[in-house]
Amino acid sequence: MKNILSSIIKVGMALAITSLAAGPVNANDVKLGAKVYGGTCVACHGENGKGEIPGVPDFTSAKGPLAKTDAILLDHIINGFESPGSDMAMPELGGNEDLTEQDIKNVIAYLRATYQRRK
Ligand code: HEC
Repeated sequence: MKNILSSIIKVGMALAITSLAAGPVNANDVKLGAKVYGGTCVACHGENGKGEIPGVPDFTSAKGPLAKTDAILLDHIINGFESPGSDMAMPELGGNEDLTEQDIKNVIAYLRATYQRRK
């Protein structure tokens, strides 16, 4: 009985940890993402996420880039992106080739936690 109980507790804990890790926003990712943003992205996207230069989109707009999925944002940040008729393209990795895929996942978590408008 004691064994069954402890297995149930273990499974429960494993599930809780897995769902935390798979959740949309992990606090640690957000902190690491803030460093990536401050080091590379802020020059164009600005402290307030609204864009420092013409042609840079507003992350705080409900219809802005953060309405897209993580998978699309990951692709556009890693590979660069230019929308039709745009004044300026988003450079690959924001022009910082040292950034890893994990850095980009972290910065997406930061963007969502910081700038995404919630209804
Ligand atoms: C040199 C300026 C510059 C830097 C640095 C830069 N961006 Fe951008 N970013 C842009 C511009 C310009 C666009 C809009 C491109 C367009 O719509 O044609 C953009 C668009 C985006 C988008 C929207 C993509 C979409 O699908 O709509 C995201 C997300 C983004 N940037 C994230 C980042 C992140 C994260 C960093 C730092 C790693 C970064 N950017 C660094 C200029 C920059």
